[in-house]
Amino acid sequence: MTQENNIVRMVHMGKTFHTDSGDVKALDDINLDIKEGSIQGIIGLSGAGKSTLVRCINYLEIPTNGQVLFEGRSLGDMTAAEVREARKKMGMIFQQFNLLDQRNLLKNVTFPLEISGVDKKTANARALELLKLVGLEDRVKNYPSQLSGGQKQRVAIARALATNPKVLLCDEATSALDPKTTGQILELLKKINREMGVTVIVITHQMSVIEAICDSVAIIDHSHIAESGPVSEIFANPKTEIGRKLILGDGNADSTPISFGDSKNRKIRIVFDGLSAYKPVISEMTLACGVPVNILFANTREVEGKAVGQMVIELPEERSEADKITDYLTENTITFEEVQ
Ligand SMILES: Nc1ncnc2c1ncn2[C@@H]1O[C@H](COP(=O)(O)OP(=O)(O)OP(=O)(O)O)[C@@H](O)[C@H]1O
Ligand SMILES: [Mg+2]
Repeated sequence: MTQENNIVRMVHMGKTFHTDSGDVKALDDINLDIKEGSIQGIIGLSGAGKSTLVRCINYLEIPTNGQVLFEGRSLGDMTAAEVREARKKMGMIFQQFNLLDQRNLLKNVTFPLEISGVDKKTANARALELLKLVGLEDRVKNYPSQLSGGQKQRVAIARALATNPKVLLCDEATSALDPKTTGQILELLKKINREMGVTVIVITHQMSVIEAICDSVAIIDHSHIAESGPVSEIFANPKTEIGRKLILGDGNADSTPISFGDSKNRKIRIVFDGLSAYKPVISEMTLACGVPVNILFANTREVEGKAVGQMVIELPEERSEADKITDYLTENTITFEEVQ
């Protein structure tokens, strides 16, 4: 990946808050490149530093160490006016929507345009176009109090897009919504990304959100990036304890290393990397080898129609039969390793 493709770069970025009760290091040595046109997820537990990170990206918080680059330029080197311009190119939405209750939907969406000095006619036309995009063109005269949570978030998205941003920052944008509405909002974000080319940065504590729409993910843990990379790779093979905890779920969080029973037979872990579908692999393997396998543990899931995750299977006791299985996996370039 060339650096020119990265619309946002964080380089050794840190943020320490100085409070009456001492210093709070919210972020430490964050290095993350966000590719233009991608949907980047940032996930972590409460207090990990996610909101601080996203606020540093648009300089609502000024990092105390390192740099944030937007389109190749360090925000720290910009004048206040240039920072404001850069910020206009980064729309933001929040968990609590933050709409203006005294204004109708049209006026909510025209608000950032009014501030930018855009004339009323142009602003109204743009707002109508955006409210249509988010499916609320027949509600323009309504007030926020007349809307459901999902509809409010749609208005917030329309408003965030008013200034034609290149990046949309979403801080827990679906956390206050039910699963169905969450799905609809995520679909909308995906559409905005694919059709308008807007880079979307999704902050969440839910793996299901990452799974649903993100291309890449960074896992934040205690102010650091624990691991980052393409969603399919991280899901297939989380390398850190926090990664395993978030991906495999809390139920497995304390059980690493996972115990796979006390059988003496050889066991292998098959890693699904998003290239292969899970069911065909197992059923074809069983058919091709003519030997049954015992699945001891499975944590696979579909990401964009492809399987990612891992499965531990017990090989047959008979050496030649076990070899058939491993040969099959090798021939089909399916990643696996022996486990204890
Ligand atoms: N303005 C501030 N002053 C002092 N400490 C702060 C400030 N903002 C954040 N913090 C601290 O920085 C750390 C990271 O907070 P942050 O809000 O970024 O976490 P988060 O990952 O967004 O959490 P959540 O999932 O609960 O929203 C926390 O310890 C928090 O208390
Ligand atoms: Mg937060």
